[in-house]
Amino acid sequence: MKTPVKGVFNGAFDTVDNIKISPFSRAYTFSDSVYEVVPFFNSSAIAFNDHIKRLEFSANQLSMDVDLEKIVFEINSLIKSSEFENGYVYYQVTRGVDSIRSHMHEPELAIETFGYVKAHLFEWKPVKVSVCDDIRWGRCDIKSTSLLGNVMSMNAAKLDNCDEVIMHKDNLLTEAGASNLFFVKDNSICTPALNGNILPGITRALLINELKNHDIKVTEDDFRLDDLSHASCAWLTSSTKGLAPISQISNLESNLDIYHPLYKKSEEIFNKKFLS
Ligand code: PDD
Repeated sequence: MKTPVKGVFNGAFDTVDNIKISPFSRAYTFSDSVYEVVPFFNSSAIAFNDHIKRLEFSANQLSMDVDLEKIVFEINSLIKSSEFENGYVYYQVTRGVDSIRSHMHEPELAIETFGYVKAHLFEWKPVKVSVCDDIRWGRCDIKSTSLLGNVMSMNAAKLDNCDEVIMHKDNLLTEAGASNLFFVKDNSICTPALNGNILPGITRALLINELKNHDIKVTEDDFRLDDLSHASCAWLTSSTKGLAPISQISNLESNLDIYHPLYKKSEEIFNKKFLS
């Protein structure tokens, strides 16, 4: 039998199967929603406040008024209610239910919230990727549930047996479909600088900061496909992947070492601090 997924919808805790939503929810008609994925390890959330701050930023960008205290309580309750020690909480904030589908929403709709908790193994898993054009909108710094660009590119890559994509705009590297990108070139760790085309990943920031604490510098700058092609190793970061080394890029000439000393050092430092 399938274990029921525990969730919370508009403040009511229940199994996800029992949650009913209106088809006029703007999550359904317009993806008028923002979200977070908050990982927990040994029953403790990783970088909880950073996730809450980013959710607040995303909601503010959409002029949604969120009750952060309630959200903090609900995410913590989901983690506590979980029978698993390691996992993540998905939490979504939606503008609300409109009276009819209309791009311009009615004023003062009641915010709709939805969260669920799921077990997750933070496993070491090398990934195969492909590179593709970044076809997404210009505000990828907002963690919106509108992810069609990512969905289209990642599913095209799946047909090529890839686990992820690395996107670029006119050769300028942005990020991966559901993670941020790091690579080593000329023995220095590089990652694309943040701008409206990139989600400011929490794992990205945690890693940069931890490396800094160990006197290892990360260069945040504009990088091109050519830089990636000349990299000696590369990896992705996200709340669910942690650090995942890239074993192969299917459509770009490259020679990546998943056991490169700078990758192994980064992984060791990150895992020691957050996943042990
Ligand atoms: N994805 N970039 C994109 C486009 C992402 O969707 C994610 C995370 C990241 C990494 O962010 P963070 O380190 O804060 O998880 C970067 C989540 C895990 C998801 O959508 O499932």
